[in-house]
Amino acid sequence: MNRVNKFVAALVLMPVLALNNMLSAQTNQSMENKVNTIFNQLTLEQKIGQMTQIASTNGDEVPKYVIDAIKEGRVGSILNAGTPKAIEKIQKIVAKESPNKIPLIIGRDVIHGYKTIFPIPLGQAASWNRKLVETGANIAGKEAYDEGINWTFAPMIDISRDPRWGRIAESLGEDPYLTAELGAAMVVGFQGNELSSEKGRIAACAKHFIGYGATENGKDYNAVSIPDYQLWNTYLPPFKAALDAGVGTFMTAFNDINGIPASANQFLLKEVLRDKWNFDGFVVSDWESMSQMINQGYSENLRDVALQSASAQLDMEMVSSAYQKHLKELIESGEIDIEVVNTAVKNILSVKVALGLFEQEYNGVPKNTEILSATHKAEAKKMAIESLVLLKNENALPLKIKDQKIGIVGPLADAPAEQVGTWSLDAVIDEVETPLNAFQEAFGDQIVFAQGLENARSNNTDQIQATVDSMKGVKDVIVFAGEDAILSGEGHSRAFIHLPGAQEALIDALAEAGKNIILVVQAGRPLTLGTIEDKVKAILYAWHPGTMGGPAILDVITGKVTPSGKLPVTFPRTLGQVPIYYSSIESGRPANPQMLGIPTGTPLDPVGLTNNYLDVSVTPAYAFGYGLSYTSFSISKPKFSNTELVKGERITVTVEVKNTGKYEGAEVVQLYIHDKVASYMRPKLELKGFEKVYLAPGESKKVTFEIGDDQLSFFDKNGNVLLEKGKFEIFVGNASDNLASEIITLKNIK
Ligand code: GLC
Repeated sequence: MNRVNKFVAALVLMPVLALNNMLSAQTNQSMENKVNTIFNQLTLEQKIGQMTQIASTNGDEVPKYVIDAIKEGRVGSILNAGTPKAIEKIQKIVAKESPNKIPLIIGRDVIHGYKTIFPIPLGQAASWNRKLVETGANIAGKEAYDEGINWTFAPMIDISRDPRWGRIAESLGEDPYLTAELGAAMVVGFQGNELSSEKGRIAACAKHFIGYGATENGKDYNAVSIPDYQLWNTYLPPFKAALDAGVGTFMTAFNDINGIPASANQFLLKEVLRDKWNFDGFVVSDWESMSQMINQGYSENLRDVALQSASAQLDMEMVSSAYQKHLKELIESGEIDIEVVNTAVKNILSVKVALGLFEQEYNGVPKNTEILSATHKAEAKKMAIESLVLLKNENALPLKIKDQKIGIVGPLADAPAEQVGTWSLDAVIDEVETPLNAFQEAFGDQIVFAQGLENARSNNTDQIQATVDSMKGVKDVIVFAGEDAILSGEGHSRAFIHLPGAQEALIDALAEAGKNIILVVQAGRPLTLGTIEDKVKAILYAWHPGTMGGPAILDVITGKVTPSGKLPVTFPRTLGQVPIYYSSIESGRPANPQMLGIPTGTPLDPVGLTNNYLDVSVTPAYAFGYGLSYTSFSISKPKFSNTELVKGERITVTVEVKNTGKYEGAEVVQLYIHDKVASYMRPKLELKGFEKVYLAPGESKKVTFEIGDDQLSFFDKNGNVLLEKGKFEIFVGNASDNLASEIITLKNIK
């Protein structure tokens, strides 16, 4: 565009921008006025009521204790409020009989779908597809909205590097950048670009603030120690990304961080969240995470709890009653300043006003709801397809099914309630399409089915021989194994992460009988497959794939679609390697693969020892970012616009991706960096960009990443941004263990 056109464009654009800014300032002003008008009518008790969230019960009825709380102005939010009928009753009681007619904000764990269930978040992360993740959240929010829910306790953006931890299922994996990108996509999916009163939009909640995934030994609700340096560089970035995406609420974690519980952590809730990041939404505790501080030996009693959490500006208490019982007295005694309460209430009212709750009247599920619509199911299937990760394929897939019999075996071939995974409170199990459904629908009596085991955890091997016998004459057998849904999720950590029950024995028997086994794993975490890997021809990791898992698996196994998933978390060979993650620090004595094993009688020789185990390789079973395809891709040598830059400058790195195979497919091009020498030891690799490209056979596409201060800087232990001159190795490839690199230099930083 030439100079004149630019000038004209600026002339035209200026008033529009100014008008927009004026309008948004007016909107903010009018919202602020509205908040203040409501706020000014509240008594202290009613203010404390707004800071209280209580749990109701399922079903159409509204319990008396809920009705009483509403009528007495003792509640500002309800979670698990029951059916749409119950929610309608609740909001009508608020409108007619509560002291201030302030609508309740109705919360629910809408984590990976509402009635149409999408893959668990760990599976969605395997799609590496920002848009699909956003769409999934948008659909989940719309379905929940139609049933009267206006706040979800998602995205869960806890960095998770311990597969023993049950809640890894609910996370977006081990990496700060991938989690930040996809967590922000979920926020936008639920809320839009900002909190809004638009139909179908609900408030999101960045949780659990913070460090929950670093729980000691993978047990839930356990101690957490995170050095400040790690806090700033690994655990905080996804929460900052959610805040930058406009998230309306945060939730505190159950755990402590270095001895201070998250629900009373002034450093995190005030210094970081409010003072440094200027968060202006509200913070809710986790379920009784406040009163649990008594068990944690941090609070003497519930009065202490109220004092400590209020002092940290924790705005809303979930389920426990410290604020209800003690906050008024703490204000009257002067131990808590009234400003703490006023700020909390204004934070809460601001979110309610922004959501348009005062203008909305909930009258039950609208006639035109799209709950479980074909469109929603199609999107769930699309996400399920892109979440599937092909870990192994010895020319077994895609499976060419002509008129031959195909075996479908395993306890998870037809287990709809397991297929939806953890946190599927509102799933409609009858609507779940299982792999057996899908394959039988497609191939009729070509399918020979045998469950093989009573369930995924059964150790009863009585059916195994009969199963093998029933596969007589069947060459290709698809085995559906893994974990039932309840083996992952909150409070469900495992000390062993191999296939539960007698599933390995079932696979062994089929392998013994010479079957071509295609193993499809449904699980809420990485599993250690050990010797099983050598006994099967292919492994497709399906996580818990949700309502449309069956049709998605069918399309990928038969080659209608090529798998494109990449691991969002490292798969260990054995639990003994945990924690194992790609972005680790290099050892002063880097591992020497020769060190594996050591003959008996070897004399002790302290020279030449390295960062090794003696009994297992230091490499993972499958690397972060890894996933196979049916086609093949070439990624050209990275081309840099420059290999030197100064602070404030940006350079680009470009690669050409080509589909060199015979199937359509998608490749995830990944950009990593390594700061070679820095004032803190930096990880060997850090993901700083990714792009998923869809290519037909023979087609190619250029992918360009920008590199500048954002990609090359990091935090010191006080959260200050450090940008240090020196060499950086820049990597581009399709997995963290399959990269090409070049050195660039950041110059003349002081
Ligand atoms: C649970 C979870 C939290 C959830 C909340 C409400 O204990 O830790 O993630 O949102 O309670 O169900």
